[in-house]
Amino acid sequence: MSLLRWKDEYLTEVEEIDTQHQRLINLINGIYDLMRSGRGDEAIAEAMGEVIDFTRFHFSEEEKFMEATGYAGREGHAGEHERLLDQIIELRRSVQDGRTVVSMNEIYFLKDWLLSHFQGPDRILAQHLLTRALPLIEDAAI
Ligand SMILES: [Fe+2]
Ligand SMILES: [Fe+2]
Repeated sequence: MSLLRWKDEYLTEVEEIDTQHQRLINLINGIYDLMRSGRGDEAIAEAMGEVIDFTRFHFSEEEKFMEATGYAGREGHAGEHERLLDQIIELRRSVQDGRTVVSMNEIYFLKDWLLSHFQGPDRILAQHLLTRALPLIEDAAI
């Protein structure tokens, strides 16, 4: 069974963002499955590396959208990205060093880490993008 099931309430209605969020949920579910099946920290640290790589890509995509549309909340949102990325990088390091054994605590941390950002700053950003998209499309049609 998966830890996280995609729910429509996570949708931002911006397709690229939603597709990437779904992928992140799948990656976190993958870590949960590894933990449940008793796989070692090495496999878990490797899966966390994938989360880190994809998160880095996803955050930079959102930041590109923010820049392209002159989003006023850009600095705060990008700052939160940096903080989130640092947290997961630190968690991975601590798993690799053997300081942390991944248990449900860490899994819940990852789940909250992801979902609170999706439903908070990302939703506000998506609303901005959706209201900006229409004028941009209209401009392009002139
Ligand atoms: Fe974000
Ligand atoms: Fe996001």
